[in-house]
Amino acid sequence: MTATATRALTVTEAIETRRSIRKFVQEPIPAADLHEVLRLASLAPSAWNAQTWRFAVIQNPEVQAKLQEAAYGQGQITNAPAVIVVYSDMEDTLNTVEETAHPGMGDAGRNGQRKTFDGVFGAQDVAQRGAWGLSQANIAFGFMMVAARGLGYDTVPMLGFNPQQVKDLLGLPAHVQIAGLLPIGKRAEEGFPHHRHSVERITKFY
Ligand SMILES: Cc1cc2nc3c(=O)[nH]c(=O)nc-3n(C[C@H](O)[C@H](O)[C@H](O)COP(=O)(O)O)c2cc1C
Repeated sequence: MTATATRALTVTEAIETRRSIRKFVQEPIPAADLHEVLRLASLAPSAWNAQTWRFAVIQNPEVQAKLQEAAYGQGQITNAPAVIVVYSDMEDTLNTVEETAHPGMGDAGRNGQRKTFDGVFGAQDVAQRGAWGLSQANIAFGFMMVAARGLGYDTVPMLGFNPQQVKDLLGLPAHVQIAGLLPIGKRAEEGFPHHRHSVERITKFY
C-alpha cells in the first residue's frame, strides 16, 4: 500500500473507472506513489523478458511548459502534477541484454540471452529493431495506466506531440522511440463515459 491510497482498486475496478483525465487536482504526487506506479508498470511482460521500456518523470513546471509546446499546446501537460514519458531504448537493451536473463539461469542464461538477441537483431537496422522495442514498451505503457488507476490516480495517454522536440528537451538519444506521454494526478473532472465496440463487433470465436 502506498502513502495516499487507502485501498488499491481491483484490476476490474481500475479498468472500469479509468478514463482519460485532462484536469487534475493541483497537488504533488508523493514520491512513494510515483515509484509504485513505475514499479508496477515495470512488471509488464516482454518477449524474452527484454524490458525495452525506459521512463522519464517530469515534475517541473518549466520543463512541463516546454513539453506542452512539443505537444501542440495540449493543456493537460502543465495541468498535471507530473508527466511520465514512456519510451523504448532498444540499443541500450541490446548493449546490456545479459541483465535481462533470470539470475537463476546463471552464465548459461546470460550467454543464451546474448546469443538470442545478437542473432535476431544483430542484422537489423536501428529503425527496424527500434520498432520491435516500441511494441514491447507499449505493453508497459498500458500496464502503467491501469496501475496508476489502481492506486487512485488518473492519467491521459498521449501521442499528440513532436517526438524529436520531446527527445531534444529531455536529452534522449535519437534512436529511442516514444510510446507516449502520460500526465498523471488525481482527477478534477469526471472525463467521458466509455464508448466502445461490443465484444461481438470485434471478436470471432472459433
Ligand atoms: C495511444 C494514445 C494516444 C492518445 N493521444 C492523445 C492526445 O495526444 N491527446 C489527448 O487529449 N488524448 C489522447 N488520447 C486519449 C484518447 O482520446 C482516449 O483514450 C479515447 O478517446 C478513449 O477515452 P478514455 O481514455 O476516456 O476511455 C490518446 C490515447 C491513446 C491510447
